Amino acid sequence: MTEQRTSMHGQWTTRWVFVLAATGSAVGLGNIWKFPYITGENGGGAFVLIYLVCVAAIGIPIMMAEVMLGRRGRQSPINTMRVLAKESNKNPMWQFLGWSGMAAGFIIISYYSVIAGWALAYVFRAGVGVFEGATADGINSIFNDLVNDPERLLAWHTIFMVMTIAVVARRVKSGLEKAVCWLMPMLFILLLILVGYAWNSGDFSAGLKFLFEPDFSKLSQEGVLTAMGHAFFTLSLGMGAIMMYGSYLPAGTSIAKTSIMISIADTGVALLAGMAIFPLVFANGLEPGAGPGLIFKTLPLAFGHMDGGTLFGTLFFVLLVFAAWTSAISLIEPPVAWLVENKNVNRVWAAVVTGIGAWLLGVGTVLSFNKWSDVKWFDKTIFDLLDYLTANIMLPLGGFFIVLFAAWIMKREMSKDELAIENPKMFELWYFLVRYVTPIGVIAVFLKSIGVI
Ligand code: PHE
Repeated sequence: MTEQRTSMHGQWTTRWVFVLAATGSAVGLGNIWKFPYITGENGGGAFVLIYLVCVAAIGIPIMMAEVMLGRRGRQSPINTMRVLAKESNKNPMWQFLGWSGMAAGFIIISYYSVIAGWALAYVFRAGVGVFEGATADGINSIFNDLVNDPERLLAWHTIFMVMTIAVVARRVKSGLEKAVCWLMPMLFILLLILVGYAWNSGDFSAGLKFLFEPDFSKLSQEGVLTAMGHAFFTLSLGMGAIMMYGSYLPAGTSIAKTSIMISIADTGVALLAGMAIFPLVFANGLEPGAGPGLIFKTLPLAFGHMDGGTLFGTLFFVLLVFAAWTSAISLIEPPVAWLVENKNVNRVWAAVVTGIGAWLLGVGTVLSFNKWSDVKWFDKTIFDLLDYLTANIMLPLGGFFIVLFAAWIMKREMSKDELAIENPKMFELWYFLVRYVTPIGVIAVFLKSIGVI
């Protein structure tokens, strides 16, 4: 074993806190809001299949690499990459990975907070019972009223950003990670209840068919890239969030096992969300490709018609906000840690400055749903563009270079030492995946999406 670094920002007390925090980062709007709507837009089964393959062949190996690099470097991604490059006598330019990741996280949190604001707004709508007995049309107009009103969106966006800053301004081991321990299982159970409702009252077979019967003729070239991008987005990969969390991980915990566990939990939540939503979509003659409003237009239908729907509905949106909150924290943690390390500011200032910057950028997303809905570049609104740029381009590229570094730049002995996989065959498998399969896979998807292959 070589020298052990420690992180100036503290360390998780046990491996479980890491698992919970990383799961908190991974499980968020990506699973419950984004997965169903992009699956709907991209034709269903074939998209889901590519996404699952990407999680297994690209996501899990990259997650292991990110956690491993983070634990070895023990700093914010920028400084971690610089230190590790130096350790391997390589160019300190590798720190650009930290920079691009920080930029991606900053852009993502700007729009993430706006959507989390919708979930916040829905806590109150569900709470006062507005969905009770509502029709699909009624629910549609409740959603449209919200997104057409920039002031309301701005207010919810602001509240969510303040919530995020408040937690990040304190330290890593605040109570929120521990809350994940209770809230994530509750979210899981609630999703199961919703799947049960969809089974009874929705068109369950049509929903399952849509999700799991691949029809490649429905998947566009761009859809393939979206599926891979989503694997990165949903697992919080390619931008340093997981690397940052890895830097707080005590030595000696199994990176492989924890990464696999986190990925399975994350994928499970997404699939359950899909199984709850699509049966309702088909039973009510709704449009699977309805876009970002999909869950807000379908799930309230279930809450409006099931026993105890007001209670379940309120609880569901509360849990969704929590899931988004724990993800948001991980999105702004890398820039905050970097400011603390390099600019000699305290955490509170670092969090406030980063939060205000991201809030400002978020105003663009707020307006892209109403006043600026006609402002488009490449046929995409500001929100679509920011989402496309980060999830489909920046995260996969970041992941690609992370894995390149771990597999080709860092000495094999170092990664072997840091990963400490007991079974030598398993290490060989990971090494083979990160050296060949993962990077070639990412490149292949990029080439496919521009029609070269
Ligand atoms: N994984 C989170 C989600 O699915 C989003 C996220 C992306 C968080 C990247 C951190 C980093 O909602």
